[in-house]
Amino acid sequence: MSNILAAPIYTTKYGQSYLGDSLHLLNSLASNSVDLVMTSPPFALQRKKSYGNEDQDLYVDWLLGFAPEIKRVLKDTGSFVIDLGGAYQKGIPVRSLYNYRVLIRLCDEYEFKLAQEFFWFNPSKLPSPIEWVNKQKIRAKDAVNTVWWLSKTNQPQANITKVKVEYSERMKKLLKNAEEFYTPKERPSGHNISDKFAKDNGGAIPSNLLEIANSESNSQYLRWCKEFNVKVHPARFPQKLPSFFINFLTEPGDLVVDIFSGSNTTGHAAEELSRKWISFEQEKQYIAASIFRFLPQESFWQANEIYDQLLTEEASGFSLPQTRLLFEVNNYCF
Ligand SMILES: C[S@@+](CC[C@H](N)C(=O)[O-])C[C@H]1O[C@@H](n2cnc3c(N)ncnc32)[C@H](O)[C@@H]1O
Repeated sequence: MSNILAAPIYTTKYGQSYLGDSLHLLNSLASNSVDLVMTSPPFALQRKKSYGNEDQDLYVDWLLGFAPEIKRVLKDTGSFVIDLGGAYQKGIPVRSLYNYRVLIRLCDEYEFKLAQEFFWFNPSKLPSPIEWVNKQKIRAKDAVNTVWWLSKTNQPQANITKVKVEYSERMKKLLKNAEEFYTPKERPSGHNISDKFAKDNGGAIPSNLLEIANSESNSQYLRWCKEFNVKVHPARFPQKLPSFFINFLTEPGDLVVDIFSGSNTTGHAAEELSRKWISFEQEKQYIAASIFRFLPQESFWQANEIYDQLLTEEASGFSLPQTRLLFEVNNYCF
């Protein structure tokens, strides 16, 4: 699937998880080979998080350092989707513009196209920052991330009918009994509105506001991390977020890459949707724990051993034949 020289930490039916700095790892991917880069970098928060942040001033430059390689590996029909949380400037209730600077510079300097801006609304987000929201009560709770959908060309591969959402109650009523619910009205254009709207298309076209609670509490990843006393990744996004864009922007068999993969939510979403995937992450512990997403339930008793092996083996020593011998279950190789 790729020409990456280092061995993956683990391999699944559809994907490979690599340890290292994605700036270098991206080098080994072929040009024009990737259908979707879906990622969420460490955010430019003021308070240093354990997963690492660049200082806000340096952050935009740092992040843009990845842009040329992302552009090179993307196909002309490919998309680059980047989730960026908002931030305040240090010590004052004034927002940082970093996420907008990233967008504008990606378009102005690297000639990405803004296919569309999306907003991920997380209704379960806790109030923050405490100082402005809870203590002084002068700002609203920050519950929306910007998600920039960028592309190399004007016409990236996309099919919105793949991500239809449930009809509203009003629309369901209309579909049940269009005539009673809706008196046909002729518009000045002569178009009959009820005729058009009373057609059941199997769901509604979604908007660019994605309401997804980040409240996963019962996934195998979380349960097994807890069970085996393994550190949970502190900044995961919900699987529904990458799943939405993978369904929307790729076809089965296409290649999805996450260059800041953390607990490998993107890889797992791609695996479930039969897309090939490659994940890069610089912290080995996060990669080792992410195996819990992929192991079949019945391997519970081996899971801790597998985690320890992934953690201790040299990345290059944990080759596929060895792992296949150890953990081949249901034709899945770990
Ligand atoms: C916000 S987290 C991603 C979380 C992920 N979306 C998930 O759901 O688990 C960002 C990740 O990028 C990793 N990272 C930061 N710089 C990196 C680099 N240069 N190469 C590879 N990974 C990097 C961090 O270790 C961190 O795990």
